[in-house]
Amino acid sequence: MLLPLLLLACLAPSSFSSVQLTSLPKLSYLSVEEPSTILVSPDKSFSAGFYRVGTNAFSFSVWFSNSGNKTIAWTANRDFPVNGYRSKLTLRSDGVMALTDADGTAIWSSATTSSGADHVRLLDTGNLVVEDPNGRILWQSFDFPTDTLLPSQPITKNIKLISAMARGSSSSGYYEFHFDDSNVLRLTYNGPTVSSVYWPDPDRTVWKNGRTIYNSTRHGVLDETGLFFSSDRLRFATSDSGSSRIKRRITLEYDGNLRVYSLDDQTGLWTISWQALPETCQIHGLCGQNGICSSYPKAHCSCPPGFELMEPSNWVSGCQPRFNLTCQMKDEELEFMRLPFTDFWGFDYNATGGTSLNECKNRCLSDCNCQGFSYKQRRGFCYPKSVFFNGRASPYSDIYMKVPKSLAKANISEQNLVCPVDEIIPIGSSPGFTEKSTSSVVWVFFYSFLAVIFVVEVLFIAFGWWFVYRKDKDDRILMAEVYKVISGQFRRFSYKDLEKATRRFKEELGRGGSGVVYKGVLENGMVVAVKKLEEVKQGGEEFWGEVSVIGRIYHMNLVRTWGFCSESSHRLLVSEFISNGSLDKHLFDGHGWLKWEERFKIAVGVAKGLAYLHHECLEWVIHCDVKPENILLDSSFEPKIADFGLAKLLRRGGNGTNISRIRGTRGYLAPEWASNLPITGKVDVYSYGVVLLELVSGRRISGMVMEGEVEMETAVRRTRGVLREKVETGEKGWIEGLVDSGLKGEFDRRQAMRMVEVAVDCLEEERNKRPAMEAVVEMLLSVLGG
Ligand SMILES: *[C@@H]1O[C@H](CO)[C@@H](O)[C@H](O)[C@H]1NC(C)=O
Ligand SMILES: *[C@@H]1O[C@H](CO)[C@@H](O)[C@H](O)[C@H]1NC(C)=O
Ligand SMILES: *[C@@H]1O[C@H](CO)[C@@H](O)[C@H](O)[C@H]1NC(C)=O
Ligand SMILES: *[C@@H]1O[C@H](CO)[C@@H](O)[C@H](O)[C@H]1NC(C)=O
Ligand SMILES: *[C@@H]1O[C@H](CO)[C@@H](O)[C@H](O)[C@H]1NC(C)=O
Repeated sequence: MLLPLLLLACLAPSSFSSVQLTSLPKLSYLSVEEPSTILVSPDKSFSAGFYRVGTNAFSFSVWFSNSGNKTIAWTANRDFPVNGYRSKLTLRSDGVMALTDADGTAIWSSATTSSGADHVRLLDTGNLVVEDPNGRILWQSFDFPTDTLLPSQPITKNIKLISAMARGSSSSGYYEFHFDDSNVLRLTYNGPTVSSVYWPDPDRTVWKNGRTIYNSTRHGVLDETGLFFSSDRLRFATSDSGSSRIKRRITLEYDGNLRVYSLDDQTGLWTISWQALPETCQIHGLCGQNGICSSYPKAHCSCPPGFELMEPSNWVSGCQPRFNLTCQMKDEELEFMRLPFTDFWGFDYNATGGTSLNECKNRCLSDCNCQGFSYKQRRGFCYPKSVFFNGRASPYSDIYMKVPKSLAKANISEQNLVCPVDEIIPIGSSPGFTEKSTSSVVWVFFYSFLAVIFVVEVLFIAFGWWFVYRKDKDDRILMAEVYKVISGQFRRFSYKDLEKATRRFKEELGRGGSGVVYKGVLENGMVVAVKKLEEVKQGGEEFWGEVSVIGRIYHMNLVRTWGFCSESSHRLLVSEFISNGSLDKHLFDGHGWLKWEERFKIAVGVAKGLAYLHHECLEWVIHCDVKPENILLDSSFEPKIADFGLAKLLRRGGNGTNISRIRGTRGYLAPEWASNLPITGKVDVYSYGVVLLELVSGRRISGMVMEGEVEMETAVRRTRGVLREKVETGEKGWIEGLVDSGLKGEFDRRQAMRMVEVAVDCLEEERNKRPAMEAVVEMLLSVLGG
């Protein structure tokens, strides 16, 4: 006979509230029909019971009691939900804990090894255990994790985490976290047709990745204070490490990333305190065969021209060609379609170095299995491929796909995958993030972004942290200082304050499309630039909302905004005063004033600033008016981009199509401004391309145009065409002819060539072909210092 615990529960006074048991004795059960009767840990931080996974489908799970939505830590039957009617979890007389469905069949059971079982308990660690009368553990859920490990729960030889299939789904997906045969902890995509390892970095050796294969203990665990250690020498600390009072979990997410989350007890929300891969597209399998992952402006997949989605709602299934390639086709019927700045990882055979592009093409043509190749110009690496998988943007490699000549130029279908974790707003992530410098990423989860002003304050605090950790470790001592500065700096000024600071708007620094800029001195002696914005139609609150976003953006290549004023019809912004004026003055008002090193530094700095503005999943900002006038130089010629965020701040969740069509400046405008296409960050990439050419040549793009009266747009297109040809043919001496003659030949040839190469790619008519600013930074940095 089973003890009718539930009846007892009904007799209790508060029969409608949840009944919390601390132990489930032998022969008793929990019923799906009473989901509010649950097992809790002694400190109540974990609960176990029936959890609804579908309309009438339930799983038996352990969850965090204090998380806003029940966050599951463990599930008994993740792939086999039970019915909402008559299903039970019972501790049977033979000591086995069994989950039975409506018809009484056992869907899941614990493999309890001894029959001495007496009761089931949920421990404070979140471990669900079957114990004998003396408290000896006979079976524990810690030995059978699903997609989550809890602190003190080890990953060992026989244990692996398997991701969920999709967000909110409980069933098993394709990603695995486990020790491989060489004793190394890895993340693997184990899909229906292929499997590949993507972490640690598969392009580097185990040692380069800081791991070892020599310890066969195969044991790894996150301790209560947020430190992780494993036998293969993977070590990391969560960004909040040190406190053992925070509830944490390591979860292998449905998007293939491994993350540590920390729970805020007050709000019930989770913060990411560590993650294995800084960039979504490093994860394999996301976009299926032939699909290309881009992280810009947020993670999404696209198909190459001439390909279409296999299943529109499911990117993992990849893209299929709209053409047929057969081995009977002659060389004349084939051509190669170039996908610049793209790579497909793996599945290559017979790679060679020192191969010219033509040789590589011929090798691929002569082999029917070859579907195309990846080509790295730098060392002439040629990688013929039989399959295209794991596609993503890459700064060093181009893809050449074999296609029939008849293939009409198809347009790239672009559909967005949601960002890896929609509901989480990262507020700082450093491109230089590595496994070891764990503190350099601080992600904070905000439920209602910018809804309350104190949230802005919190952002600054967190930003302060990020800023400090990004710098050298020695700088950490400054943390407290910076925190104070950053949290205290962004402020609201009164119109009177600013009138006084600028001595009634006396000294004009410049005039731009958005308003006039005046020099001012604040009460504390700080010199600032005060911009009077014209034509701001927004109401005070809306304006406040937007500028506080600008105000929280901090990057060394962006002009810092210190505060704002919004009074009746006045709208002013107070920002950093940059001593050396704007780039156009140095570049065009006197030849050769800027030395080559300075020009290159400016190119890199501006790219970094824009990359930061565009960064994946950051509340991204399109500048819309990148030009030398908006690039200011400090005393050491470090560039700082001004006026960002004025055009329009794109709110997360909003679509990119409704950006107001604020016009940039002729000559710097991407072609899509003229068409009806939505404006994306790629307009900035285009304008940046123009600026690069101007940096190299020291002349306005308009001045570079050889013949007279042509449309500016046509002129840029023509210039680009000429340069593309020169880059490709490698004609002798052309770069010397292009570089600013004022430099008198004192320039770095490699850097100049690279700048032109990048510019040519940035100026692609078709915006999808333009590289992301992050790729631009990498391309430029690769030629830094000889
Ligand atoms: C809980 O989940 C629902 C539905 O997925 C979501 O709308 C809500 O924002 C979540 N709440 C919290 C606090 O995470
Ligand atoms: C192997 O790893 C275990 C667990 O991390 C550790 O205790 C042990 O000292 C390691 N052995 C060697 C030889 O490093
Ligand atoms: C490709 O081949 C299949 C079967 O041979 C045929 O049905 C299809 O129409 C062909 N597609 C094209 C684009 O030629
Ligand atoms: C690899 O490429 C070289 C050079 O083209 C060729 O001689 C060789 O046969 C190729 N090997 C295979 C296995 O295809
Ligand atoms: C894609 O190309 C087709 C013709 O090939 C054209 O009709 C369609 O408008 C294009 N779509 C976009 C979004 O450019």
